[in-house]
Amino acid sequence: MTSYTLRKGSSAKVRTDVVVIAVTSTAQGPVLAPGGEAVASAYGRALTPLLASLGFTGTRDEVAQVPTAKTLRAPLLLLVGIGSADVLGDATRTTDAVRRAAGVAARTVSNSASVALALPARDPAEVRAGAEGFELGRYAFTAYKSGPAKDEPGEVVLLSEIARSKAGAAALETALVVSSAVRTARDWVNTPAADLAPPAFADAVRAQAKASSGKLRVEVLDEEQLRERGFGGIIGVGRGSAQPPRLVTLSYRPRRATRHLVLVGKGITFDSGGLAIKTQLGMRTMKCDMGGAAAVLAATVAIAELGLPVRVTTFAPMAENMISGDATRPGDVLTMYGGTTVEVLNPDAEGRLVLADALVAAGEVGPDLLVDVATLTGAAETALGDRVSAIFGHDDAAVARVRAAGARVGEALWQLPISEEMPVKVRTYSKIADLMQHNVDVYGGALYAAAFLAEFVPDGVPWAHLDIAGTGFNRRGAYGHVPSGGTGVSVATLVELATELAEAQDS
Ligand code: BES
Ligand code: MN
Ligand code: ZN
Repeated sequence: MTSYTLRKGSSAKVRTDVVVIAVTSTAQGPVLAPGGEAVASAYGRALTPLLASLGFTGTRDEVAQVPTAKTLRAPLLLLVGIGSADVLGDATRTTDAVRRAAGVAARTVSNSASVALALPARDPAEVRAGAEGFELGRYAFTAYKSGPAKDEPGEVVLLSEIARSKAGAAALETALVVSSAVRTARDWVNTPAADLAPPAFADAVRAQAKASSGKLRVEVLDEEQLRERGFGGIIGVGRGSAQPPRLVTLSYRPRRATRHLVLVGKGITFDSGGLAIKTQLGMRTMKCDMGGAAAVLAATVAIAELGLPVRVTTFAPMAENMISGDATRPGDVLTMYGGTTVEVLNPDAEGRLVLADALVAAGEVGPDLLVDVATLTGAAETALGDRVSAIFGHDDAAVARVRAAGARVGEALWQLPISEEMPVKVRTYSKIADLMQHNVDVYGGALYAAAFLAEFVPDGVPWAHLDIAGTGFNRRGAYGHVPSGGTGVSVATLVELATELAEAQDS
């Protein structure tokens, strides 16, 4: 267990194994960022030549470890570059830089029992970013590794001027709850699909809810109940698998709440493509296809742990998209929950089918704001890459609200349109059913999918759809506070959104 404490004190005098400071790059050379003042004065004039001889410029993600030879009380100084000093001119950019630098530091320190972060920590957002970045950066998925566990620091001290304020302490608490939820989401995504089929995933949610605040209610519909109640999308996708589907509902209903946030997450525990089977390369990382469900469920756990006064109901439709003699075929028609019929054209466009059922169920509980999160289309990744999630919606205020929440916690969202031709295609392509599941045209797949989902959102409900196909799973190396594998993207955005809804209700 790593413990975090917030303390006022000098970065030159703190008793610890390693002190971390941030360095910006300027035209005049590297300059220590706020938080490193005491280190700068301890080194005095020796600092500039020291950085020069290391070739350290302060470029983003650059790191250097310097033995301090008693210049500081700590034996080791860890420098992390955060790029142009311009970032310090903008609060959001500084916060992002701190989160990222703390993540880099966490991945760099080795064999240190204690770490002191002397990063910018002048306000609650910076304090939170330091703790969150470090806790997320040091994440490692080790459940399947034999051999001794990796050393982890026993104590992380965050040095901050606001250490003794209520707001500072609250920021640290939020950081720890949110990063714990992000880590849970990552664990679920990283768990091999064979070990996290729908029944096991539903059990894991139950266990998580029980272990956390005791303020959550879990309801699980099994295959028989889903069939009885007409969840044709979830049943249709799950029928090719030996593992039965589930619909998990996680709810949090604090007494003081007046607003109701409703979340829906895609929970395809493995996506083989079904009868539209993917290539082996295409399905290599498809255990990640429940990343949306992982995010909304973990966020709900965090919201309850923080005790935010906002009601949350979260739906996670879970199914495994496989092939068998009984898998859904192209040309089959499914009757979704609520009665809408859909002609299946491509069994690999399965996410929207399970989401359609869940969105209808979500509409029934009276959302003030409805947000779904899904690793839905490769087209979203083609459009925006692997670090920017796509966001869609007809309600500009709802979309802006979610985007702004994401920006405050360092998660980039870019709006793509549900252009007017898309709903027309969704409604007219099928000759035999109400709706056509999949775009007959090659391009615009993310837009078509969003337009399809929109058909299942009741009129007048503010709704935003997040496509995290590009961002949910990092197939490449770690960067900043983001490791390889499951990223836990959207958890922080959703918790921030709930925080903002709770505040809006108080005023
Ligand atoms: N799960 C995939 C989308 C995906 C792609 C997630 C890459 C993560 C990384 C989804 O179910 C899918 O197969 N989408 C198809 C849609 C198509 C058949 C309309 C795709 O993107 O090719
Ligand atoms: Mn698919
Ligand atoms: Zn999928």
